[in-house]
Amino acid sequence: MNRKYRHTVIAGNWKMNLLASDVKAYATELRSLIPDFHKWCDAIACVPFTSLPAAIRAFRTTRVMIGAQNMNQHKSGAYTGEVSGAQLKDLGVRYVIIGHSERRELFGETDDIVNKKVLAAIQQQLRPIICVGESLGQRETGVTNDLVAMQVKSALNGVDALKLRSAIIAYEPIWAIGSGLTATPQDAQDVCCEIRAVIRSLYGARTARAIPVLYGGSMNEKNAHDLLAQPDIDGGLIGGASLKPELFAAIIKAANQ
Ligand code: PGA
Repeated sequence: MNRKYRHTVIAGNWKMNLLASDVKAYATELRSLIPDFHKWCDAIACVPFTSLPAAIRAFRTTRVMIGAQNMNQHKSGAYTGEVSGAQLKDLGVRYVIIGHSERRELFGETDDIVNKKVLAAIQQQLRPIICVGESLGQRETGVTNDLVAMQVKSALNGVDALKLRSAIIAYEPIWAIGSGLTATPQDAQDVCCEIRAVIRSLYGARTARAIPVLYGGSMNEKNAHDLLAQPDIDGGLIGGASLKPELFAAIIKAANQ
């Protein structure tokens, strides 16, 4: 974390978990665990589409902001089953995860689609949380930095410097997601530092300094402190541990120390 230049961001990614009817109890419990909380950090809950209205209602009196986990790149039209940025914005959604590795791997999202979604999100004044990261094979081959640099450059193609200020990048090594394996703080720091170097090369030092770069991949209440102590890790994108208010609260507390 480097609070002099940028916010710390703790974002939960609920994935396809919990029901809309679970949201109220979750929000009540989280609020009771961190009553006057996260002075230093922005807390975000990225919930399934079906839970967005309930989450926006339940978290209205808290400082937790609500995000979606995906959006379509088109403004509107004949795209059965899809949800546009304008529709998210209209609900009061502030953030949207884009290019999560599960979307890339399971739903065929390419770097080009990710880029179009980033542009569409920014156009709707939604803050994109752009995910990048390597597979185990790619790490073992030694191409992590090149791959992540390419993903970042592709995702930001055509995004101007002023607009980029709303973006958040999440480094999520695929092998660490949901596996219980976490990158070491140093390995995660090295890649987050590389991501910032790529942003610096594209947009200059001032912008690079201002963009939060998160780590994601089995972050939990035990390892959060050491990961967040790294200078280029500005927060976390948290799957499994965000489903339980007490674990999510513990990570928010770690980010506030
Ligand atoms: P995990 O998921 O914390 O369960 O590893 C992180 C993510 O996929 O964003």
